[in-house]
Amino acid sequence: MKWAAAAMLSLAFVSVAVAATHAGRDATVKARQASMKEMAAAAKTIAGMFDGKQAYDAAAFKAAVETIRARAGPALVAEFPSATLGAPSGAKLEIDQARPEFEALARHIATLATTLAAKAERAPPGITDDMRMGPGLAMGGGSLLGKRPAAAEADPAKLPAEHLLHLILQDCSDCHSKFRQKAL
Ligand code: HEC
Repeated sequence: MKWAAAAMLSLAFVSVAVAATHAGRDATVKARQASMKEMAAAAKTIAGMFDGKQAYDAAAFKAAVETIRARAGPALVAEFPSATLGAPSGAKLEIDQARPEFEALARHIATLATTLAAKAERAPPGITDDMRMGPGLAMGGGSLLGKRPAAAEADPAKLPAEHLLHLILQDCSDCHSKFRQKAL
């Protein structure tokens, strides 16, 4: 009798522990998905300002860049602990097999966002020509995976803000095409 009670009790502890682990995993997944959505909204805001679909405002521009910068790099990496990868989330298990590559992408986007943030810090009240990507640069988006980086990317600080945005978006899609799956 005593044994049965003890067994029941330890079973209860185990299921509480498992439930806690699941809850923790779900919370991590939800938090990172929310953070990704915030980055997407921020990127859309910045792109909209350059496309003229959204009124440019230096403070809003700065805030949107900061949203991306704060979620890139180590913050991004920390959102993907091993135990939270795979279905039902949209994070592929491959992240664990390719940590250096995943982290390099997170660092790369952070470098670009930090560079853009420094520019946004000094952003003029209206969009100036030197913030815009020249027509010749439109195709110059170098990619970290595979394609040869554009020469201009050697020093991202020399790039116009709009070009930095394009390189940032390139990192979003590079990472997604390799490490993101359809969530169940
Ligand atoms: C280093 C890799 C990496 C980078 C860089 C990255 N993402 Fe993601 N993103 C992911 C992964 C992995 C998921 C799937 C997460 C999940 O479902 O748990 C994801 C999911 C998303 C989602 C879906 C969130 C949801 O609600 O399910 C959006 C939107 C998104 N990312 C936007 C962006 C944008 C915009 C950028 C660039 C500014 C970006 N991501 C940069 C890896 C990355």
